[in-house]
Amino acid sequence: MSRKTQVVIFSLCALLISGCSSDAQSNEQSNEHMMNQTSNEQHSMMDGSTMGNGHMSHNNVVRLKDSTGENEINIPPLLTSETTVGTEYTVKAQKGSVNIFDNVTTETFGYNGDLVGPVLQFRKGETVKINTINELDEETTFHWHGLEVSGEADGGPHKTLSPGEEETIEFEVTQEAATLWFHPHPEGKTSEQVYKGLAGLIYIEDPNSAKLEIPKKYGENDIPLVFQDRIFDDQHQLNYKAVMNEDGTIGDTLLVNGTVNPVLKVGKEQVRLRLLNGSNARNFTFKLNTGESFVQIATDGGFLNEPVTLNEVTLTPSERAEIIIDFSQLNSLKDLSLMNEDGSILLPFEVSDQEVASTQAVKQLNEFSVTDEEKAMPVTKNIELFGMMDHVTINGKKFDPQRIDFTQEQGVTEVWEIYNKKDMMGGMIHPFHIHGTQFKILSRDGVEPNENERGWKDTISVHPGEKVKIAIQFKHKGVYMFHCHILEHEDNGMMGQIEVK
Ligand code: C2O
Ligand code: CU
Ligand code: CU
Repeated sequence: MSRKTQVVIFSLCALLISGCSSDAQSNEQSNEHMMNQTSNEQHSMMDGSTMGNGHMSHNNVVRLKDSTGENEINIPPLLTSETTVGTEYTVKAQKGSVNIFDNVTTETFGYNGDLVGPVLQFRKGETVKINTINELDEETTFHWHGLEVSGEADGGPHKTLSPGEEETIEFEVTQEAATLWFHPHPEGKTSEQVYKGLAGLIYIEDPNSAKLEIPKKYGENDIPLVFQDRIFDDQHQLNYKAVMNEDGTIGDTLLVNGTVNPVLKVGKEQVRLRLLNGSNARNFTFKLNTGESFVQIATDGGFLNEPVTLNEVTLTPSERAEIIIDFSQLNSLKDLSLMNEDGSILLPFEVSDQEVASTQAVKQLNEFSVTDEEKAMPVTKNIELFGMMDHVTINGKKFDPQRIDFTQEQGVTEVWEIYNKKDMMGGMIHPFHIHGTQFKILSRDGVEPNENERGWKDTISVHPGEKVKIAIQFKHKGVYMFHCHILEHEDNGMMGQIEVK
C-alpha cells in the first residue's frame, strides 16, 4: 500500500470515528481512541517507520511533557557589535553538539554556538551590517523574519549560501521597536534546519522603547523565550527524517531557548517575557497555572497602544508576544508556572522573596492606528489557503521559484483578503506570514480583531473557513515570500512570491 493510500484510509477512519468533527470536543471515547493512535504512531515514528501521524494530529496534538524545572534556562548572549559606527555583527550557521540531557551529546545546529542563536540588537535609524557565514555541510540562507528590508537582504530561498560561503548584507533599520527573529529559509529544507536548532531573536530598540518605563534589564527582567517542541529518539538525537510529519512535525518534548525541563528565576517585580513560538507546527496557548492575569504589551512588530489584560495568549508558529507578569502582585508565588492550554507545564518560575522596588504599570505604549481610509479600501489581492499534508496550496498552486504570483508598488497600501478554505476533514489553522513588512489586521470575518491583535503583525493565524483582511504596504523593493509558517507546509510548497517595484 502506498503511503498516500495509507494516509487517506487513515484519515477516513479518523473521520468515521470522530463523526466528522473537526474540533477537539467530540465524545470522549473517540478522543481516547485518537490519543492512542497518536501515541502508537509516535512509537512507530521513533522506530524510524515513515508513516506520518496524519492530519488529525492537529485536533488531537500529543501533549507536551511537563517541565520538571531541573535546569536553569539558557539566556542567549546579546551579540555585541564589532564596530562603534552603526552596528556590525557576524552570524555563523554551524553544526554543534550539546548536552541537552545529562551525559549524552545531541547533534544540533546553531548560530554562533551549538544550539539556537544569540540575540541581535538593532537601533531604529542606524545602518546594520551582518557578515553571514555558512559553516554547515549543506546550503542555507539567513532570513530576518519581520524585518522591513529589501528583497536582496531578506534571505529568502533565492539567497542561498553554499557550504563555506560568506556574504555581507547591509541595511538601514526603518521600523519601530519590536521583537523579531531570524532563521534559515532554503527551499524544501527550512523545517529540518530550524528543527535542528537554527533560530535566534532580534530586538529592535527606538526612542520610544528607551523612554517607556517597562522592564528592560536583559536576562533579568526582560527575558527572551523561544518555545520549540521536539522529538528525541532513544539516543537523544533529533532525527528529523524519522519523525517528520508532512502536516507539521509536533514533538512531546519542549525546549525553551534550547533548555529541556527549564526553570526561570525571577525577582518579585514586573517581568517582561518576549515569547516566540519557534516550533515547526505546534500552537501554544500560554497562561499562568493559577489562572491569574498578565498584560500583553507588544505584537509581532511593535508595541500595542496600551497594555491588554489577558488570562491567556495564543501564538501560532512564528508569532511573538511580549507580556508582563507582575510577580509582586500575584497571590501565591509557590509552584507558579507558565502552562499550556492542554495543562502541560511549560516554564516553572522560581520567584525570589526579596522585594524589588516596583515600577508603575505603564498606560500608553504606542500610537498605532488603522485609518478610515484603510478600512474603506477595496480588496485588491486574494489569497486562498487550502489543503493538508503535502497537498497544500495557495490559490491552487504550489511554490515555483520561477513564478511571481503578485506585484505591488513600493509604499502603496493595499488590502489583501486571506481565506482558509476548509477541506473534507474540516481543515486546520494556517499561520500566514509575509516577508519584508509589518501589516495591520482590518478584520476577521468582518469583525475588528481582538485588542491584542491591534498592532503590527507579520504572521496571522487563519482559522478554517475564516477570511481575514489586512492592510499592507512594503517600504522596500524586491521579491518577497508569503507562506504558511507551519514549516512543513512551507517546504511542501504552500508559498508564493510577490515582487515589489
Ligand atoms: Cu519566518 Cu519565510 O519566514
Ligand atoms: Cu519571514
Ligand atoms: Cu499550513
